[in-house]
Amino acid sequence: MYVAQPIEWTDRGVVMLDQRRLPAKEIYYTYTDYREVAKAIREMVIRGAPAIGVAAAMGVALGVLHSRATSVDELQAEFAEISRELADTRPTAVDLFWALQRMKTRFTELLASSASLPEIRSALIAEAREVHLEKKATDEAIGRFGAEFMPKEGQVMTQCNAGALATGGIGTALGVIRVAFQQGHKLHVLVPETRPYLQGARLTAWELLRGGIPLTLITDNMVGHFLKTGKVGAIVTGADRIAANGDTANKIGTYQIAVLAKENNVPFYIAAPISTFDLSIPDGEHIPIEERSAAEVTHIQGVRIAPDVPAAHPAFDVTPSRYIRAIFTERGVAQAPYIESLRRLAAAQPLRAAP
Ligand code: MRU
Repeated sequence: MYVAQPIEWTDRGVVMLDQRRLPAKEIYYTYTDYREVAKAIREMVIRGAPAIGVAAAMGVALGVLHSRATSVDELQAEFAEISRELADTRPTAVDLFWALQRMKTRFTELLASSASLPEIRSALIAEAREVHLEKKATDEAIGRFGAEFMPKEGQVMTQCNAGALATGGIGTALGVIRVAFQQGHKLHVLVPETRPYLQGARLTAWELLRGGIPLTLITDNMVGHFLKTGKVGAIVTGADRIAANGDTANKIGTYQIAVLAKENNVPFYIAAPISTFDLSIPDGEHIPIEERSAAEVTHIQGVRIAPDVPAAHPAFDVTPSRYIRAIFTERGVAQAPYIESLRRLAAAQPLRAAP
């Protein structure tokens, strides 16, 4: 089954598929400068929490690879600057900060072992590639755990794009749907278009079509109608940050879907890696919500659709955990009370990528 490849480390640099141009065009760029990677994250060439994390890790590796530092001390100062630039791109998805921390931890280990500059360069490239490999393995495991909760047949709903494009693996929410489909569940996916950036219409519809999974595209204001008809067996979405009590930030519109799901007795699930947990914050009130440009609301692909008026664009919203039936991770399934189940999963044995 077709799996999109949004990002790849190559000998020429970091290759990314420009997700802004999908589905009309498949254009790949090769980046050799970490500042270009930061710009690509900010401008949504690459998006989706885990994929942003992979891009940040590769951005660090690129920065170190092409650094002009002639001593480890010089590289240390540059490392901090590289990390700062990559961190200052998108605030909500915690995978970004997780990946930067992971690269920093590896760098600190290398410094402690008195590694040479060439050794540091190759070790950090290896670490970034390992992050990518682990994301792939993580998605597969999430898919296996989540598939058990999918109906044997009928309609399921998602939101935004939490597929291969968003992770670099098979996807989280779409990974669950993909695994269930491959196991023989006869699923049909309802895909809300996900205004204003249209990740549902442009990306999820494209991925499902390519993967041969039946779908129907709907506009965001049809969600209530479809949930009320009683023909949706489950909803599964991704996440950008999960607080200690299970409150979950995901693409704008997710909260209203979750509330409507509860009203209509449709189970609402989150599929996300452990790296999306932020157990340092007690609840969703503490999650920073990215405000994006109003032009993304007043314009669609550069074409103005509204008069020149103020427009708001919070890119994410927070779903309180009481609306979430379960959270699928690579280490198992969390259910309420989340304060305990998330802490238990976070402390469990990490999944390592197959060698
Ligand atoms: O603004 P985006 O496109 O980066 O937002 C993506 C989402 O909200 C996804 O649902 C989330 O990152 C999970 S991706 C596996």
